[in-house]
Amino acid sequence: DAVELGGHAHYMLKEIREQPETIHDACRGRFRRAEATAQFGGLNMTPRQLRRVRRIVFAACGTSWHAAMVGEYLIERLAHLPVEVEYASEFRYRNAPLDDRTLVFVLSQSGETADTLGALRESKRQGHPTLAIVNTVGSTIAREATGGIFLHCGPEVGVASTKAFTAQVAVLTLLAIHLGRLRHLSFTDGLAAIEAVEAIPQALGEVLAKIEPAILKAAQRLAQTKSVLYLGRDLHFPVALEGALKLKEISYIHAEGYPTAEMKHGPIALVDRETPCVFVAPRGALHAKTLSNVEEVRARHGTIISVGTEGDESLEAISDIFLPIPDVPEIVQPLLAVVPLQLLAYHVALLRGCDIDKPRNLAKSVTVE
Ligand code: G6P
Repeated sequence: DAVELGGHAHYMLKEIREQPETIHDACRGRFRRAEATAQFGGLNMTPRQLRRVRRIVFAACGTSWHAAMVGEYLIERLAHLPVEVEYASEFRYRNAPLDDRTLVFVLSQSGETADTLGALRESKRQGHPTLAIVNTVGSTIAREATGGIFLHCGPEVGVASTKAFTAQVAVLTLLAIHLGRLRHLSFTDGLAAIEAVEAIPQALGEVLAKIEPAILKAAQRLAQTKSVLYLGRDLHFPVALEGALKLKEISYIHAEGYPTAEMKHGPIALVDRETPCVFVAPRGALHAKTLSNVEEVRARHGTIISVGTEGDESLEAISDIFLPIPDVPEIVQPLLAVVPLQLLAYHVALLRGCDIDKPRNLAKSVTVE
């Protein structure tokens, strides 16, 4: 293989561990501290054109779709723009109303996913500027888009996407800051957001240095189960979806991601001693509500694994296994919170003897419909 394993047992593990570096690479040269904003060289749109945008549509598949959903929450918060996240396979055949103030982005690690390429071509055919957030330079999507953002996270080999997800979320955070600063986001808030992103590589290094023993314990709890619920709220709802997808993809255990508070409208019926729940619950504005959802699962004797802010004794006390991440501002929490879930899926798959880098029935890049 052209890309070396460099002492790691699998590409997926190597790519998980590379993330402090790859997030740094995705952001390199894109901070404009003096103006408290972020900047991209390849959007091919003037600030004036970007200011005219009234709505954003993201189209993607798989993990890229989850990253887009984090982007939706971030752009809503920082730039107050409406965002819709579409499965590329649906978007391309629908008659989605797009006006001339709608900006379409497609997101793809490989730049070759057939449905995402189809969405790009359909949007361009209707005359919309269609930008791409892509990792692979020279890919079909990168070549056909009217502009865009490269992830610069290096080739991703493991079929289950990891470092491309965090690189996508990092650039979407910068995009949200950029769009926010063209509108109402203040200098001070813009700078605080920039500084929060800049601090992530180091914080993630700390997570990776300490967390594996707790992950191994959590993996042992999950290895024999048939089904796992992943719950997250707000920015962590897409993180929960991504955590569930990772487990499904490589360990073949059924997993479902759900918004935490929606649990009571269905999934809680599944909770019993045999159905563990993974809560993605770093401290934030809705934390007290999340804690009471965790209590509801506890009352039904479900195993609780939680990703939370270090020092959060209330959450730790009601969890069977607590996976701590450093205390960082909410907007950058997804970049840290997803990593324990990637490692959890990895270790569960390892315990089950699965072929981690080449899971059955899946392809790294799906170039047919
Ligand atoms: C496949 C891969 C996933 C990936 C998805 C979208 O299903 O197995 O890991 O997220 O395609 O790929 P893209 O390259 O467009 O991001």
